[in-house]
Amino acid sequence: MQPFYPPTPETYQLAKKLIENEELVAFPTETIYGLGANALSDVAVQKIFAVKGRPSDNPLIVHLGDKKRIDEYARVENAVQQKIIDTLMPGPLTLLLPKKEWISKFACGVPLVGIRIPSNHVARDFLQAVQLPIAAPSANISWKPSPTTAQMVYDNVGDQIPMIIDGGESEAGIESSVIRVVEKETNWTSAAQGWFERFLIQILRPWFVTKEDLEALFDGQVEVVYTVKNPELSPGMRYKHYSISGEVRIFDSLSDISLSSQSIHSPDIHIWILLTQELQESNPDLIQHFVRDWMTILPRGTTSNLASCAHLLFDQYHSAEQAWINLLFVERLPEEWIGYAIMNRVKRSAGF
Ligand code: TXA
Ligand code: MG
Repeated sequence: MQPFYPPTPETYQLAKKLIENEELVAFPTETIYGLGANALSDVAVQKIFAVKGRPSDNPLIVHLGDKKRIDEYARVENAVQQKIIDTLMPGPLTLLLPKKEWISKFACGVPLVGIRIPSNHVARDFLQAVQLPIAAPSANISWKPSPTTAQMVYDNVGDQIPMIIDGGESEAGIESSVIRVVEKETNWTSAAQGWFERFLIQILRPWFVTKEDLEALFDGQVEVVYTVKNPELSPGMRYKHYSISGEVRIFDSLSDISLSSQSIHSPDIHIWILLTQELQESNPDLIQHFVRDWMTILPRGTTSNLASCAHLLFDQYHSAEQAWINLLFVERLPEEWIGYAIMNRVKRSAGF
């Protein structure tokens, strides 16, 4: 039986029953689709790890329908965390906080738990109906790209779960920013320093809530750093991710592709090229010159709206996988603001 369900009150009631019975329910969020289970149940949480093939030391984040319930599961310890909760939640953000003990140890065997309050209305209706904390990673097989449609969830794990709530295409297409706040180990007696300055925000996984946004939120008083290359802080960064069976190659200019593909003459090799609108329009003659029959150009979005590039990315990776593409060229984007987060995923898919 197909597990697709429309986002209706009847679906949410059935979802509540499934979650209470320690089953898994996939649901949409504003970032990507999640694979949800009761975060208080060891049995349910272990099903997530089994279905995804997820390494057991990679903790899960916990989703709540209402930020008023955060203190049931985690401790908010300082005004920096509180301001982040007050201003940026609900939204595409996961805040790591000291956990309270009753979250399943399998969900989070470490002292901090990632708390996420989604803004997507289907996710919120589902969470409000269920009234339980929901542990949910991305609803994909562990090393693959995250799903941005119900169909993509189905293609990953559909034969192993009873319900996928179909909320259409994910708005963002990339997973939430994961951040934590730490107190610097310095002696803060100087009156010249403001109170906020004793804290540091680490961005373990970049996305829509960026370094620039967080610096602006605290008027530059709180230092913000990316720590994406530190596997001690971000367990998920230790593992292969966003990979497809074909090779992903990053390129800067059309001539890079031309050079790179000169050695490939076989019509059995299928090449896709993800090209921004700007590059495509900049030199149609050159494109005509080097594109062969076995190469297909697909839209990469537009650099004037980087969110469009994020929205398309995983969907195109998934399509490339399904079409048995051997080589996927992906245009490099400027690594600023959300471009940093997009290139973080592209580089990982290319094996960096
Ligand atoms: O947008 C999202 O965050 C989606 C939707 C469904 O909410 N969820 C998601 O979950 O992407 P997942 O498990 O695929 O990614 C969570 C990331 C992983 O890289 C994990 O290692 C990291 O957050 N993480 C979770 N708990 C952590 C903790 N206590 N300390 C450090 N990193 C943690
Ligand atoms: Mg994931």
